[in-house]
Amino acid sequence: MEKPLVVVFGATGFIGRHVVQKLLSRGYLVRAAVRRPEQALFLKSMGDVGQVSLVRADVCSEGDVSEATIGAGAVVNSVGILTERGSQSFHNLHVFGTQLMIKAAIGAKVQHFVQISAIGADVTSPSKYSKSKALGEAALNQFPGAVSILRPSLVFGAQDKFFNRFAAMSRFSPVMTIINGGTRFQPVYVGDVAEAAARVLAKPPKSKDIIELGGPRTYSFRELIELMLQQLGRRRFLTSISDRIAMPIAFLLGLMPDPPLTIDQVRLLRRDNITSPTAQELADLDIVPTPLEVILPQYLRR
Ligand SMILES: NC(=O)c1ccc[n+]([C@@H]2O[C@H](COP(=O)([O-])OP(=O)(O)OC[C@H]3O[C@@H](n4cnc5c(N)ncnc54)[C@H](OP(=O)(O)O)[C@@H]3O)[C@@H](O)[C@H]2O)c1
Repeated sequence: MEKPLVVVFGATGFIGRHVVQKLLSRGYLVRAAVRRPEQALFLKSMGDVGQVSLVRADVCSEGDVSEATIGAGAVVNSVGILTERGSQSFHNLHVFGTQLMIKAAIGAKVQHFVQISAIGADVTSPSKYSKSKALGEAALNQFPGAVSILRPSLVFGAQDKFFNRFAAMSRFSPVMTIINGGTRFQPVYVGDVAEAAARVLAKPPKSKDIIELGGPRTYSFRELIELMLQQLGRRRFLTSISDRIAMPIAFLLGLMPDPPLTIDQVRLLRRDNITSPTAQELADLDIVPTPLEVILPQYLRR
């Protein structure tokens, strides 16, 4: 069977670029829908000549999104933000943008929609991020074709924000403060997330599947930072404060142009970020999750 043209929104992102790479290695034609094609030329070098095309698309522009989707057989939505700024709001990107993609996909008779959501997507969540992820998922009920919702836990890999940011913070400071150090995560390798996207595209579900993507084990926030410090060969004094105490700090930091912490991120830390025992997971796609301890030394160097 001929492989469909796949449109990837968010193709320049940490996860999106790995998805593009996996699809290219499987022989798909990929259209990367990006805000700044001139900054996405590196995607072209991942494939054979003509295998990747770039199209300018802001997901909040109906015209852009509909043009980007013409002729596609599948759509992957890997657009997202963790911090709001101006019109780049959770609602605009995770809900409105997804609605525009769904409308365009229906118009273009797309058969399969793959949504990169997040563990914790829940309309009752105290976090605006998680609420907007749940509303984005809910919008997919309007899509008549196959729907695959992939919900990763914390994603790690060479360009991740979590370990790279904390590693940078640990460079100069002898003390590191973490919030709700007992909150649990199940870090998943970016290569496994991309592999999951490629596998669901190869075998679309009959209607809608939700798959939670977590690594082989869970860690507390504190254990993750300890592991990172061990890897870097740095000794730092770790203190954990509660989310309540962190709120005023997050409020002030949230006023910075590229805030290291926001109130919404503190709210996210109130809940564990791990797969549910009843959810479909990587094993259901025959993927053996890659341990954090194998990958971390490859990009966090002493
Ligand atoms: N990373 C994690 O640990 C993690 C965990 C769970 C879930 N997720 C979810 O996975 C998805 C991808 O995350 P990521 O880590 O790859 O994020 P990322 O590296 O920040 O990438 C986000 C992508 O969204 C694009 N984008 C932002 N605003 C846009 C707009 N208005 N129009 C079009 N594209 C826009 C960015 O394009 P530009 O290059 O133009 O900025 C970029 O390609 C998100 O939905 C996120 O919520 C991530």
